[in-house]
Amino acid sequence: MKTIDELLSEGVAGKRVFVRADLNVPLDGTTITDDGRIRAVLPTVKALAEAGARVVVASHLGRPKGAPDPAFSLAPAATRLGELLGTEVAFAADTVGDSAASTVSGLTDGKVAVLENLRFNAGETSKDDAERAAFADRLAALADVYVGDGFGAVHRKHASVFDLPKRLPHYAGYLIATEVGVLKKLTEDVKRPYVVALGGAKVSDKLAVIDQLLGKADRLLIGGGMAYTFLKAKGYEVGRSLLQEDQIPAVTEYLERAEKQGVELVLPVDALVGPEFPDLKTKAPANPTAVAADAIPADQEGLDIGPETRKLYASKLADAATVFWNGPMGVFEHPDYAEGTKAVAQALIDSPGFTVVGGGDSAAAVRTLGFDEQAFGHISTGGGASLEYLEGKTLPGLAALED
Ligand code: 3PG
Repeated sequence: MKTIDELLSEGVAGKRVFVRADLNVPLDGTTITDDGRIRAVLPTVKALAEAGARVVVASHLGRPKGAPDPAFSLAPAATRLGELLGTEVAFAADTVGDSAASTVSGLTDGKVAVLENLRFNAGETSKDDAERAAFADRLAALADVYVGDGFGAVHRKHASVFDLPKRLPHYAGYLIATEVGVLKKLTEDVKRPYVVALGGAKVSDKLAVIDQLLGKADRLLIGGGMAYTFLKAKGYEVGRSLLQEDQIPAVTEYLERAEKQGVELVLPVDALVGPEFPDLKTKAPANPTAVAADAIPADQEGLDIGPETRKLYASKLADAATVFWNGPMGVFEHPDYAEGTKAVAQALIDSPGFTVVGGGDSAAAVRTLGFDEQAFGHISTGGGASLEYLEGKTLPGLAALED
């Protein structure tokens, strides 16, 4: 994989460089609530601009349906990028239309433009190779060089991620190089004990990674909504907690395999329960109760790991040489159900080992709960992407950069 440093040494002054970023930031209306992904691409954009490139930044945001939808406009992200760069950033109101063409041709050396959301064009995400190729051809006409730096989207076989780099000289940006370097540490020659904490709502999203990790990790700590399917598989009643009945056979097989292979698969010993899902807008007090994991009342829903589990998981993380954490332990967006996620974050901070926070909700949790990002070994920008990497899958956006 050629990196941006090689591109810079070849010289980029006056060249139009297409930077595929992941500016898929959470928005409240037009307000960005976490700009971590914009900050993450700054080193690449800055280096290119300082070297005199004409930088064309492109990304998706959310999941619009292949047509313009103002709710998913990248305009707020473009404004924020300009603020962080301390320079004016031009914004094209389309992706491959007149606005994009004139915005890019209006760029002078060292200047930056952002295109509108790539997913406003159906060709970006199409499963039809020809439709994606046609869109990639039009994007290719806007640039001389491609830099892939949208790590959060490398697991998507999308036009700007997979097809476009095949049409232009291509390089990996600093973010992708860093993310891949970190994930290699988790897959090649990992330092032990290697402990993985997995949370999040759905066990079905994590099946493939659990399958892989049973052969690699020394300990797997399970939390979040997905824990209740494991508890049910052990024969416990889980009341009104989130449950994926259809996953019970798979989960049962994992519990058996973990035992056979000597992998510690650790489940919550208690939970914070409430009669209903808390109100995340008003944050009205939820007054949860702590109950043992095998004593969840029929009319209650488990919404966080309990105090005993917090202590247990902290102790299981204390001697780790390597930690990977993906997925919150509870409904951390509500203060009454944030303690489990906080405890795991704190245990990572206290750990002397190399700690990696998988992207998505766990990365957002770390930031919104006020933890110092520098206290972690690495906070990934890619949730699905880092999980698929750990699953051992070929990621289209990385494969395209290798060719
Ligand atoms: C993410 O948020 O994980 C990435 O931006 C990818 O987004 P997607 O899941 O909508 O493809």
